[in-house]
Amino acid sequence: MLRKTAKYYKGYMPFVILTPLLMILEVVADVIIPTIMGNTINDGVLSGQIDLVYKNGLYMIIAAVLAFIFGGFSTYCGAKAGQGLGKNLRLTVFEKIQTFSFAGLDKFEVSSLITRLTNDIVLVSNVARMALRISVRAPFMFVLATFMAIRINIRLSMVFLIALPVMMLGIMLTMKFGIPKFRKFQSMIDRINARTQENLTGIRVVKAFCREKFEKEKFAEQNKNLVTTALAALNLMVIIMPFMMLIMYAVIVAVLWFGGNLMLQGGMEAGDLFSFIMYVGQILTSVMNLALILMNFSRARASLERIFEVLEAESEFAESIEQGVSEVVSGEIIFDNVSFKYPGNQHFSLHNINLNIPSGSTVALIGSTGSAKSTLVHLIPRLYDVFEGEIRVGGIPIKEYRVASLRDQVAIVLQENTLFSGTIRSNMKWGNPQASDQEIIRALEISQAAEFVLNRPEGLAAKVERGGVNFSGGQKQRLCIARTLLKNPKILIFDDSTSAVDMTTEAKIRIELNKFNPDLTKIIIAQRISSIQNADKIIVLDNGKISGIGTHADLLQDNCIYQEIYESQQKGMAAG
Ligand SMILES: Nc1ncnc2c1ncn2[C@@H]1O[C@H](COP(=O)(O)OP(=O)(O)O)[C@@H](O)[C@H]1O
Ligand SMILES: [Mg+2]
Repeated sequence: MLRKTAKYYKGYMPFVILTPLLMILEVVADVIIPTIMGNTINDGVLSGQIDLVYKNGLYMIIAAVLAFIFGGFSTYCGAKAGQGLGKNLRLTVFEKIQTFSFAGLDKFEVSSLITRLTNDIVLVSNVARMALRISVRAPFMFVLATFMAIRINIRLSMVFLIALPVMMLGIMLTMKFGIPKFRKFQSMIDRINARTQENLTGIRVVKAFCREKFEKEKFAEQNKNLVTTALAALNLMVIIMPFMMLIMYAVIVAVLWFGGNLMLQGGMEAGDLFSFIMYVGQILTSVMNLALILMNFSRARASLERIFEVLEAESEFAESIEQGVSEVVSGEIIFDNVSFKYPGNQHFSLHNINLNIPSGSTVALIGSTGSAKSTLVHLIPRLYDVFEGEIRVGGIPIKEYRVASLRDQVAIVLQENTLFSGTIRSNMKWGNPQASDQEIIRALEISQAAEFVLNRPEGLAAKVERGGVNFSGGQKQRLCIARTLLKNPKILIFDDSTSAVDMTTEAKIRIELNKFNPDLTKIIIAQRISSIQNADKIIVLDNGKISGIGTHADLLQDNCIYQEIYESQQKGMAAG
């Protein structure tokens, strides 16, 4: 785990090395001080040599100032290194998430990804900062101070040597019971984030269903659980800290008692006893710091595991992200015996699909919800990869294209589409960053969005709120179509993209699209027969299988599913 983390210190290595080095210097200065102090008491204060007191006092101040400087720099470098690690990890995790295919995204919950990107990384970076200092300081100080204490008086050292195992036991018990509690705490945070995220993204639905009270209660309960878990973990600290203090004071009292007796018998000087007690203090604090850092290590470990889970998840087609064919020569699409199932699903969503879509044709997909229409079109720009069979675009298997090139030229307007906060212009530039205002307006005209955009006083600079909430469903759909048109693709896929647009406007979009680029291959998923009856070819999907292919007239003759859809819509029209 540590080795894997090391490479994320990139760019901050000098700080990673400097932090412990400076720490060692600080510890040396810290450990010298009690000895100088002891000498001052023995040879200066008790024997009345006042200039020795001054001289040693000066040394002590120098040592203290050095300790301060080294310690300060070490803390500074540690903070740099820790924050650097956090920055690198955050960036890498974020970049990694961007490489996930749709299948990869199905694996992690959004809220969990957010917790990993924020909480977990902050925790790791804080622990790294601490660890770089304390994990050097504590053992080093422990060894040095123990050595000095033993040098002063080996018999007196027995006192704390007896106390040490007791402390260790206390620490081990705390870790044994504390670590699982902290783990649980972390997953509770995950859950509360998931809850909050789900609630906030669906807040409108919550209100529409008057479920606020229910949601509040559920949240309150989780919040309470979180606090209980946190307190259980912290209560352990409440017990362990005074316990450690108790041992520490007991040791000091014992040292004073035995040392005092020794002194009275003339076996020890007052100054030595004094510095001995200071060393005991240093030793015991090192032990406690060691315990603290071990505790934090195990928390950070849980977080690191969660971070690496994302980093080590497979991004399905990492190899073709950068390499491969970059030009889609024609809009011809061939499905060669394609079957597909979602990762983790037992059953196939698509069975043995064979299709031949000539360049420049308009093909429509129709079928009941769940018949796998969306699934079928997602395969063409490789949002998911086929399970069996092969898809060829422009005569070349899609796996041989550079993914970005393929997706640029096979443009899809997703069923669940979204706009991003910004302006209309910034949203349109998603399609093509170089698009001029003129081109944007042209695209808006085709998608029948120009009117309502240009009617706003700000025009293209009109604000788009997060998720496009300040536009109606139909307006959003038309903006999404315009954004996709700006890519100037070879293949255009509409996944139910005009479902919220009225029929007259939809017809206008269809006419404008044909004028826009007659060579464009169009795949249109729609619910309304009126939207697709002029298509060159209509594919009827049923439960992941092709039930029929043909023109409107063909299918009306010999496809009973199509007939049924047609009749129900005719009736609906008559009734409406
Ligand atoms: N991300 C997914 N993970 C697992 N199963 C999915 C996923 N998306 C869709 N499915 C399943 O695939 C089938 C087809 O869904 P879909 O292609 O969305 O249908 P349609 O677009 O025709 O309404 C459904 O049974 C659905 O449950
Ligand atoms: Mg769908």
